[in-house]
Amino acid sequence: MTLLYKSDPARGAEWARLLAAKAPDLAFRIWPDVGNPTDIRYLAAWMAPDDIMAQFPNLELLISVGAGVDQFDFSKLPPELPVVRMVEPGIVDGMVEYVTMSVLALHRDLVPYIAQQRDQIWRQIRVWPASTRRVGVLGLGMLGEAACRKLAGFGFQVAGWSRSCREIEGVICYAGPDEMTDFLGRTDILVCLLPLTDETRGVLNADLFAKLPRGARLVSSGRGGHLDQDALLAALDSGQISAAVLDVTSPEPLPTGHVLWNDPRVLITPHIASMTQPETAVDVVLDNLRRHRAGEPLLGLVDRKRGY
Ligand code: GLV
Repeated sequence: MTLLYKSDPARGAEWARLLAAKAPDLAFRIWPDVGNPTDIRYLAAWMAPDDIMAQFPNLELLISVGAGVDQFDFSKLPPELPVVRMVEPGIVDGMVEYVTMSVLALHRDLVPYIAQQRDQIWRQIRVWPASTRRVGVLGLGMLGEAACRKLAGFGFQVAGWSRSCREIEGVICYAGPDEMTDFLGRTDILVCLLPLTDETRGVLNADLFAKLPRGARLVSSGRGGHLDQDALLAALDSGQISAAVLDVTSPEPLPTGHVLWNDPRVLITPHIASMTQPETAVDVVLDNLRRHRAGEPLLGLVDRKRGY
């Protein structure tokens, strides 16, 4: 019963050290050193290898090492192979930090101040209390919910939107397509933490921007595929959006010379909002392997029809 890891080798070495201490009986290998392919029962990967079942005929479980599974081509994975997303506290904490940092930066006008500093301009912008700012989080999965709770603690007026109805203390919850327009209409700072699926691809587009209050601000830290970058540039030019923080772009890396790089209304980070932390991830993986063996429900099991 071997767990094979196929992702960043440096973090793989951390997994190896942690697993040796926490689960000495579990055989662990790091791609490409797979050993006997028929021993591989579990695969933790960012990208799945092609013809996965031909390579690993006894594979029982595919674990994404990231919070998302949009990088997998499900048409190439056998329908009966369970796939799980990484649902681990380290990813949640990292995303909560990033979203908090970005919302506070947008709330406190850091983006124009960075531009002003470049030009040695000393110009004050009126400071508004957090309680006057309406933050809206698209996507209320484990990341969105945790971000909402933290933001509510700063006194922001926080709302969240998800496909199906959620209840989160201190957060106004909107659900389904019918309530999207109302949600957007009350959102001064929009945070996108949706999973990337056929339904959500390109969701941050001209139509959506038009439904936000004029001068709204955007944080995009889910996937680059959510954002129509040309629509964002047009919305920035028209003043419909006043500033944006982007952790994800399409493509990645954002090509050298792309207009977004030098746009003074945009802050870009290179997909670092959150990363799986081996220390906490290994515990969740071991729990899932135990659940799998015991026939118990898996944490983060992907519903293929839903796409996440
Ligand atoms: C990073 O983007 C992840 O999916 O964990």
